[in-house]
Amino acid sequence: MDNKIICGDCLDAVKRIRFPVDFIYMDPPFTGNETYTDIWEKNDEELSYHDHWEAGVLGYCDWLKKRVEVLYEVLKETGVMCVHCDWHANAYIRVNVLDEIFPKRNFINEIIVRRKIYSKGSQFDPRSLPNLYDTILVYSKSKDYLFNKDAVLIKRTQEELEDLYPLIDEKGRHHIKGILRNKSMCERQKLVYEYKGFTPDKWGWAVKKDKLIEIDNRGDLIFDKNGTPKRKKRIWEDRGVSIGNIWDDVNKFKSGEKLGYPTQKPEVLLERLIKIFTNEHETVLDPFVGSGTTCVASARLKRNFIGIDLYKKSIEVTNDRLSSLTTDSNNPYFEFEVIVPKTIEELKSAHWLYVQDWVNERLGAYSGKKGRDGGQDGSTSHEITNVFDIARKEVVDVPKGSLIQVKHYVDSPLGIPILKEFETSIRDHKKNVGILVGWRFSTPEALSFSIKREKDGIKIYLVTIEWLHGQPILSGPRQEVISIKQTRIKQTMTTTEEIE
Ligand SMILES: C[S@@+](CC[C@H](N)C(=O)[O-])C[C@H]1O[C@@H](n2cnc3c(N)ncnc32)[C@H](O)[C@@H]1O
Repeated sequence: MDNKIICGDCLDAVKRIRFPVDFIYMDPPFTGNETYTDIWEKNDEELSYHDHWEAGVLGYCDWLKKRVEVLYEVLKETGVMCVHCDWHANAYIRVNVLDEIFPKRNFINEIIVRRKIYSKGSQFDPRSLPNLYDTILVYSKSKDYLFNKDAVLIKRTQEELEDLYPLIDEKGRHHIKGILRNKSMCERQKLVYEYKGFTPDKWGWAVKKDKLIEIDNRGDLIFDKNGTPKRKKRIWEDRGVSIGNIWDDVNKFKSGEKLGYPTQKPEVLLERLIKIFTNEHETVLDPFVGSGTTCVASARLKRNFIGIDLYKKSIEVTNDRLSSLTTDSNNPYFEFEVIVPKTIEELKSAHWLYVQDWVNERLGAYSGKKGRDGGQDGSTSHEITNVFDIARKEVVDVPKGSLIQVKHYVDSPLGIPILKEFETSIRDHKKNVGILVGWRFSTPEALSFSIKREKDGIKIYLVTIEWLHGQPILSGPRQEVISIKQTRIKQTMTTTEEIE
């Protein structure tokens, strides 16, 4: 089984994918309310959060383009990519990202997905019309892409069918329609053939000869009084009507589906896209998988999946969501492998955000806010947390509420300037104890700095990631970022003690 959930920036994680994929759906972060809180760059947390906003939507497009370029490389020649966005950036993404990367004219559709209407919120500005839809931009890698239009036909009601097929003969309801291609269509020499003495002009018959014979054998080929061939189309031949590109029926969650993950999309939306653009056993990739909606929809439809997210919580939610479904389905497509950085070497090349979450998990700590955090990446949650302080060369007792800062600088040791900054953060947060976690600390001066601050009532403990790596995970506090509302997830989460 090739199913995978990978923790990491999709820019890097996609390089682990060794085979081309058939379909990519992506719902990249774009909060729209003047923050880009979900967009992170490697090793430069505070700057990137701010910089992207400074650079506005074009900075965002640069960030996305780098990722779409590598994703394009893993897409099969027959593959399709869907990008889910909204009015904030859809025009920019289409022109500055997708049109730049995909060969000319490989734009297939712009799908309008009607949003759920809330009586207030960012959708509503008193001086403009409410924004009631999201956009899905659809591009193919080549003209030879898979498109299962029949998979999404809507059946007509009995009343509509009776209106459309008003004639009745001994075989039942039908209507009479042409069986020749018309002049508005291009010429089709292959469809120009003689049948029962009739040869159409250069536009040809509407069907191949074997199909025409089949229709005739059924008694449904007729010639009108001018000798023009027509066919009886039977009510049972009606396959339904195409859904078009305005989708107003895919914004609802099934009962128990909503997990409380911000920006979670309904499974029904993903199921529809996957049915249109893939066949069973093919592979679907979601590089911004969030709560794992794409993985669940793929597995249900017997497609393989690869989900990527750099947020550790997302991987946990996706893992738990899929695991809880595995137990009540015998579908082997729910089997999957979770790939998260585990060894020291993997941690070294992991995204800073992952390392930050990993440290908090090891310490059983509260997570700080993502992005500009004022120097606080976490805070201790246990009455006493024991850590090995390399400055004092002993295990120390850290009281509850102490500040945690993580510096994921693999190559440069942490020196006095960083310790001074951390001291300021501790004071700003009106605390007097902090743990600075890093890979290496510089000189003996840096080590003794922390001890010297003690006389001013500030305790700075220096802890290495390597030491933490050898320690068991401490039980963690209530998760603040996501409130998991679903019972089945409650039962399967193991890394948290209390969940809303
Ligand atoms: C809009 S949410 C996706 C929601 C998802 N469609 C669902 O149904 O739950 C965007 C996700 O992208 C993730 N993300 C942000 N930057 C990323 C990156 N560089 N690589 C991978 N994932 C990233 C965020 O952690 C977030 O989970």
